[in-house]
Amino acid sequence: MTRIIGISGSLRRGSYNASLLRAAVESVPTDSKIETASIRGVPLYDGDVEAADGIPAAVTQLKDLVAAADALLLVTPEYNHSMPGVLKNAIDWMTRPGADVARVFGNKPVGLIGATPGGLGTAFSQTAWLPVLHTLGTRMYTGRSLYVSNAAKVFDGEGKLVDAAVQQRLKGYLEGFVSFIRG
Ligand code: FNR
Repeated sequence: MTRIIGISGSLRRGSYNASLLRAAVESVPTDSKIETASIRGVPLYDGDVEAADGIPAAVTQLKDLVAAADALLLVTPEYNHSMPGVLKNAIDWMTRPGADVARVFGNKPVGLIGATPGGLGTAFSQTAWLPVLHTLGTRMYTGRSLYVSNAAKVFDGEGKLVDAAVQQRLKGYLEGFVSFIRG
């Protein structure tokens, strides 16, 4: 069984990226599964808090989930042609202390997908993540990409993926990602 931790980078109740992650959970190949984890509860990074109190429990929990999984799937929104601060903040906390980065992220297969109501499918955001994932020593999956545009039409009012072409692309992405993880 290939175990993937999936994290959506939006806190919004009606988030398209959370909807995309839910669709991914339903679309994984056999003998693999995506468990979702939330960045809700991760405080803003503050070096004084870290020095005084150490790593917050919500962060330690996320780190341990990622460390124990075979792979990480990030589902990222795009804000101002870059990644959203809330997700970057969570990842930044997860790289503390620095000595623990290799355990959590080192050589970890990472997939990156995203959805936007706009037309460019989070391409800028996904590109902005590349130096971050590179410096963490992850093993980025680049075999396929998934940029979901026009999200208001791709998902229905309940957040269900209703676009057959996007469903097929998601399935193809996950098949490629899982074979990459299995190496
Ligand atoms: C956006 N949005 C956006 N979309 C995009 O495709 N490119 C962009 O640069 C931006 N910039 C941007 C900045 C800020 C501050 C906000 C709040 C939004 C729109 C964004 O894709 C949209 O709000 C999505 O719905 C966010 O993802 P979730 O919450 O639906 O997962």
